[in-house]
Amino acid sequence: MMMMPTFVHAKKKTLAVLISGGGSNLKALYNAIENGLLTDTEISLVVSDKANAKGLEWAFSQGLKTLVVSPAMCKQLEVDFEAVLLNALEEHAIDVVVLAGFLRIFKGDVLTAYEGSIVNIHPSLLPAYGGKGMYGNHVHEAVLANQESHTGCTVHLVTANVDEGDVLGQTQVPVLPTDTTETLAQRVLEQEHQLYAQVLQRWLPTIAPKVPSFV
Ligand code: GRF
Repeated sequence: MMMMPTFVHAKKKTLAVLISGGGSNLKALYNAIENGLLTDTEISLVVSDKANAKGLEWAFSQGLKTLVVSPAMCKQLEVDFEAVLLNALEEHAIDVVVLAGFLRIFKGDVLTAYEGSIVNIHPSLLPAYGGKGMYGNHVHEAVLANQESHTGCTVHLVTANVDEGDVLGQTQVPVLPTDTTETLAQRVLEQEHQLYAQVLQRWLPTIAPKVPSFV
């Protein structure tokens, strides 16, 4: 009798973490895996669009696989940035794309191939303070200018519309009367580090692997 292959959804989810800068969320995810807070998950690839991203250096020092996909180089070679990135994601059998301070917006191949399996973290309570131009300290400056009593952070699915995908989790952070952009950014970032791992721990098991394993 011929044995039919059985799909095993319990295999470790393979993540590509995409960064452009400091990579503190990448470090938090790495630590969550190391400490058993984020289970059945591995960071299989760290990609940066900037060769000098601090987080890339750190990832390399931890023995993680790292890759730079330079938009300028792609342009010079007349190859599509997302096509090159998608090729790398497929080569490393990536299940889920985790944006962690990655400053490029997906419009093409990656979005199509990984629809529903790309997540991002944003330093506000979306839909508030999201969309084009709302990144980094611009978000916290706007929150302070509007004298909000609360802000926070959001983990959400990535779609073609910037910061508008389904919300997977949020944490509120109070705005203090003494807050500056820097103190507020720091307190929000601390919450991001916890939220990302918590959301992924809950959400990753609901995602079918891109490359199913057989027994
Ligand atoms: C975080 O504030 C995140 O919300 C935003 O970019 C920042 C990345 O910080 N998308 P880091 O590089 O993880 O330290």
